Amino acid sequence: MSTDPLNHSQFEEGTTLDRFLLETLRGHPEATGQFVTLINQVTLAAKLVSARVNRAGLANMFGATGTMNIQGEFVQKMDLYANETFKRAIEHAGVVCMMVSEEEEEIIQIPPPFSPGHYVFCMDPLDGSSNIDTNASIGTIFCIFRRKSEGGPGKPEDALRCGRDLVAAGYIVYGAGTVLVLSTGRGVHGFTLDPTVGEFFLSHHDIRLDPTARTYSCNEAYSATWDQRLGSWLATTKDPATGWSARYIGSLVGDFHRNLVKGGVFLYPPSQKAPKGKLRLLYEAFPLAFLAEQAGGAATDGHGPILDRTLTSLHERTPLYIGNAETVQEITRLLTTPA
Ligand code: AHG
Ligand code: MN
Ligand code: MN
Repeated sequence: MSTDPLNHSQFEEGTTLDRFLLETLRGHPEATGQFVTLINQVTLAAKLVSARVNRAGLANMFGATGTMNIQGEFVQKMDLYANETFKRAIEHAGVVCMMVSEEEEEIIQIPPPFSPGHYVFCMDPLDGSSNIDTNASIGTIFCIFRRKSEGGPGKPEDALRCGRDLVAAGYIVYGAGTVLVLSTGRGVHGFTLDPTVGEFFLSHHDIRLDPTARTYSCNEAYSATWDQRLGSWLATTKDPATGWSARYIGSLVGDFHRNLVKGGVFLYPPSQKAPKGKLRLLYEAFPLAFLAEQAGGAATDGHGPILDRTLTSLHERTPLYIGNAETVQEITRLLTTPA
């Protein structure tokens, strides 16, 4: 199998996301149309948010709303717009029984007259909020479970799940271009939006994480209060002989996308400022861990695989070490060996 993410020999130029889904899901009789409908609604919302992000400075979309969310963070205007846009695009389609969003404390029920569907949709509607006004890459991160409860409105147990229950995960990165990256459990594939026709076209077929890359991504300003065992690993990156280089955008989705397509590792360890880590398990760590593993990489919380975790509260935070498997496993070994 080619490792060149741009070589999609089995799909000629111009394969849309919709066609790719229909062709790859054809072999799965249990796949109802609901999943394709859900992804189509995600892409509709992604196009709307992309258009708004691209005009943020002109559409009065910079800055904060003046309110604070469950995370204790000031909600940016774009956070709210993205949250509402994804909710509205998905709730009427009759394909999800509930949603969970970083921007809402409680589970989001499907309002009447819309009917609940098979899936649970969990999202960080706008990741990288601190970068909205800087024109740096920001994005939307999501993951999808099949509902656990039988019929009717979704229940908390539909979201309080083990990461291994995920059926799909993805993100949209609103950068120089708008790229949607998705996995349904059969590899990781990227689709680039052509705004002139309003379609996502296959641009990165079967993305594989480069195991040899030596790029690390973390906010080193907090490293003085990290677990001291990480300090020894961080020191090795400063040895010119190791060939390490640093890149940090401050948007998880941008840092992860770079590492996915070019190789590298991202770390957000616990620190004095974020004793449990800053990133959220359900709609940041789970989806990216699903993608990392599907691309041949790994993701742990410093003890074990992120996807082995079971969510105990909707917005719980976790440490995150994610990227090429060898480095993630080396860091995890360090953190599980007595100091
Ligand atoms: P969000 O904007 O959804 O709250 O996420 C921000 C996160 C993540 O995108 C990024 O990796 C991290 O915050 C950056 O944190 P620091 O500013 O502490 O480095
Ligand atoms: Mn985020
Ligand atoms: Mn966010």
